[in-house]
Amino acid sequence: MRVLVVGGGGREHALAWKLRQSPRVTAVVVAPGNAGTALEPGIENVAIAADDIDGLLAFATSAGIDLTVIGPEGPLVKGIVDRFSAAGLRCFGPGAAAARLEGSKAYAKEFLTTNGIPTAAYALFTATSFDADWVRRQRLPLVVKADGLAAGKGVVIAATHAEAIAAAEAMFAGTFGAAGREVVIEEFLSGEEASFIAIVDGLDILPLATSQDHKRLADGDRGPNTGGMGAYSPAPVVTPAIHERVMAEVMRPTVHALQARGIHYRGFLYAGLMIAADGTPNVLEFNCRFGDPETQPVLMRLESDLVELLEAALSGRLQGTPCRWDPRPAVGVVLAAHGYPETVRTGDPIHGLATAAALPGKVFHAGTRQSDGQTLTSGGRVLCATALGDGIAAARDRAYALVAAVDFAGCQFRRDIAYRALARAGTG
Ligand code: AMP
Ligand code: GLY
Repeated sequence: MRVLVVGGGGREHALAWKLRQSPRVTAVVVAPGNAGTALEPGIENVAIAADDIDGLLAFATSAGIDLTVIGPEGPLVKGIVDRFSAAGLRCFGPGAAAARLEGSKAYAKEFLTTNGIPTAAYALFTATSFDADWVRRQRLPLVVKADGLAAGKGVVIAATHAEAIAAAEAMFAGTFGAAGREVVIEEFLSGEEASFIAIVDGLDILPLATSQDHKRLADGDRGPNTGGMGAYSPAPVVTPAIHERVMAEVMRPTVHALQARGIHYRGFLYAGLMIAADGTPNVLEFNCRFGDPETQPVLMRLESDLVELLEAALSGRLQGTPCRWDPRPAVGVVLAAHGYPETVRTGDPIHGLATAAALPGKVFHAGTRQSDGQTLTSGGRVLCATALGDGIAAARDRAYALVAAVDFAGCQFRRDIAYRALARAGTG
């Protein structure tokens, strides 16, 4: 089997690495990939952008690709799976209609509330319908969200009414382009976040191992929101009882309600949850893809053949398909470039990758590229140092040993990844 992975981040390096381990796979091509995928045995890159759907379709057809797996949300929202399917190519991911769950927060909020799935109370505004007085009557803090895709940056937690109004007005004025034409303002929910990701085929749901992301830039969950500064799996906040509540109150109602709207959801479905003190699994957002950096620790724990799982979903055999996990936890620490998440500096040489390769675990690449035999930074999130361990503290120590081995100018990383799980385990 020849497999194409679309995307060039850490998630795609991990997907390609895991797919390549399948005895059924002879070649993995990543479009456009990064230095990590370029250096991986049995994996090669092709210089086609992840949102160049025409280019990807032409390549998949001419290169005899048997299975395409889409990493990022951009091409999914733009309908890459519909195009591949219409051309008779097998492609794993939701179609454009299903990807709206991530592509439009207004749509997702309407979907959640209509179907009684727990989520924060909200109101939706455009520049013309915006009601500052309504905002002033709401309890603080307030959460202001641009409707469309904004790479994890379109969310403002406002501590004052003035801040909420200013955030909404900035979005209407175009800080996020068309993504801010509509703005969701919702109540602030407290609790503990968890990422609940499943492989879905229409009505069948195969939940993957749970995980928790660290969205803020700085230790102690301070600083600006990012795409994610680290993740670990499993998330202890998702106890077996909470797991069952998520399935019963979020995942099953979601795929059923999509069916009722004529949408057969096939792909990874990611519910970003805020687990309340009483265990209510509130949905903060849906993503129509695997998480980044959640993919890196989650796939490190997956013992089953990922190709088999994706094929089971593609051929309607997901129900009853077994899925084996390494019981050991995994921790992934993101190393980000100078300036991230604002204006990122690129082109810094990365040192120590060979040293890290001799240690337990794996350094997945994200924003990296090869130039004259050197590996350089080329994006905001650069690497994700990921390791398994006998217990969460051991996994954390191994991940940070990898972090200590690599270096580049301006490198930023959090020193407290997995702190909640460590506190629960009493080993923080
Ligand atoms: P989102 O892109 O909607 O997941 O929001 C990004 C981050 O903002 C989430 O991971 C949360 O940390 C935070 N957030 C979003 N919505 C809320 C909310 N209603 N209450 C509290 N925090 C929120
Ligand atoms: N780590 C958050 C995301 O993938 O959206």
